Amino acid sequence: MAVNIHRVTEAELEEQKAYEKRVSSVLQKRYENRPLACVVTYGCQQNVADSERIKGMLAEMGYGFTEDRHSAKLVVFNTCAVREHAEDRVFGNVGALKKYKLANPDVIIALCGCMMQQKHIAERIHDSFPFVDLVFGTHVVHRLPQLLYSALTQRRRVFELPDTDGVIAEGLPVVRDGGTKAWLPIMYGCNNFCTYCVVPYVRGRERSREVGDIEKEFRELVESGVKEITLLGQNVNSYGKDLEPRVSFSELLRRLASLDGDFRIRFMTSHPKDCTKELLETMAQCDKVAEHLHLPFQSGNNRILKAMNRGYTREHYLELINYAKELMGDSLSITSDIIVGFPGETYEEFLDTVSLIKEIKATSLFTFIYSPRVGTPAAKLDDPVSYEEKSKRLRELLAVQEEISASQMALHKGKTFKCYVIGKGKLGDNYLAARTDGNLIIEFEGGERLIGTFVDVTVTEPLTYVLKGEIKKQ
Ligand code: 5AD
Ligand code: SF4
Repeated sequence: MAVNIHRVTEAELEEQKAYEKRVSSVLQKRYENRPLACVVTYGCQQNVADSERIKGMLAEMGYGFTEDRHSAKLVVFNTCAVREHAEDRVFGNVGALKKYKLANPDVIIALCGCMMQQKHIAERIHDSFPFVDLVFGTHVVHRLPQLLYSALTQRRRVFELPDTDGVIAEGLPVVRDGGTKAWLPIMYGCNNFCTYCVVPYVRGRERSREVGDIEKEFRELVESGVKEITLLGQNVNSYGKDLEPRVSFSELLRRLASLDGDFRIRFMTSHPKDCTKELLETMAQCDKVAEHLHLPFQSGNNRILKAMNRGYTREHYLELINYAKELMGDSLSITSDIIVGFPGETYEEFLDTVSLIKEIKATSLFTFIYSPRVGTPAAKLDDPVSYEEKSKRLRELLAVQEEISASQMALHKGKTFKCYVIGKGKLGDNYLAARTDGNLIIEFEGGERLIGTFVDVTVTEPLTYVLKGEIKKQ
């Protein structure tokens, strides 16, 4: 099999192991007790997965963890660049640490993630936040031990932001937060260059992990008791196009679904441009693959979709959804991302998005007001519609979706779902809460011994945000 050109070599990873030991001995000399680290994660699940690896390395270096920034000797902000609001929050929170750092000069403040991968942001941090000690980009997460060692031992600030196409670092230690739920990245980066989106600039080109590496991690998760595994990628449908031999995402799914054990597989995000009928058939055929399709359409208007460089039409999107519904019927749950107020979007064009949500009847939607991102083509377009008007349109869309969500919930009455029991419920003392394939919460009366198992539950009463049900007699 050809060697994956993006893969970080064993020698490089070994070098980092040696730095872990060095950091560990610096910490032992400096602190009597185990120092604590606070890792704050913004943005998407890919960042959550990166933070789990950051924590894994920190644990090996001897750090414990805290949620409280002001009792930490190391604060790491893993940042998100996808919208302005996320960036503003980071600047605010970093600024708020200035006093703490000045009073505790031994504390290390580190920033990483997508925001740092943008030149203008790194410059701003450099010039206006002199108390930040360490800044590193998305492509050097695996080199954290070495970078931290420099920050701890040298009297200079460390900025490590190489502009590469990206790497794959296998075998990093992981500290997971999710309990019986886990995130598993199967690929990194994005090649799509949607005109509004900063991700391809900050996360590099698409690169897939080898099937064997994914399968190994997957097995380990299942053996450790994880029940719900979400496969992650910016566009999982283009998984494996860069592998030799090529592997399709459907093939990967089938392989993982055929493994032994009691688990459920989810995946996100799918891109309608690359979503194949084969994938939908795989979802319908494999019991262990959740019948939940997160398929963002962004806009229901073909002119806007073209301006966004999305590579599909409204008609193509509907064809996919209709085929998925044909295959999976009522058990299919659809969710989507939508952007309101793309530059130049007229009210009539926005109404095409509203009419599309009426047609697809999604379980829920993730809706965003367009946020201009430095360096993206859309940020250069004229944008005559005011923010107030865009907010008004968003509210209009949400009101329509609220009705759809409620009527979708009502339709579940009498249906039986296979659910994973996550813990105690809120509807009453004897109630348990479980999650359906489609990510809905269903509560029913049952004994605590069911927690951590899959059960069949029939809906008796759909409430606004949860379903009430009865466990099906086995
Ligand atoms: N403005 C608003 N929303 C955006 N998204 C990505 N870039 C932007 C932007 N510049 C949304 C898209 C994507 C989701 C993760 O974030 O809907 O699917
Ligand atoms: Fe951004 Fe489009 Fe890539 Fe998604 S597919 S990460 S929206 S460029």
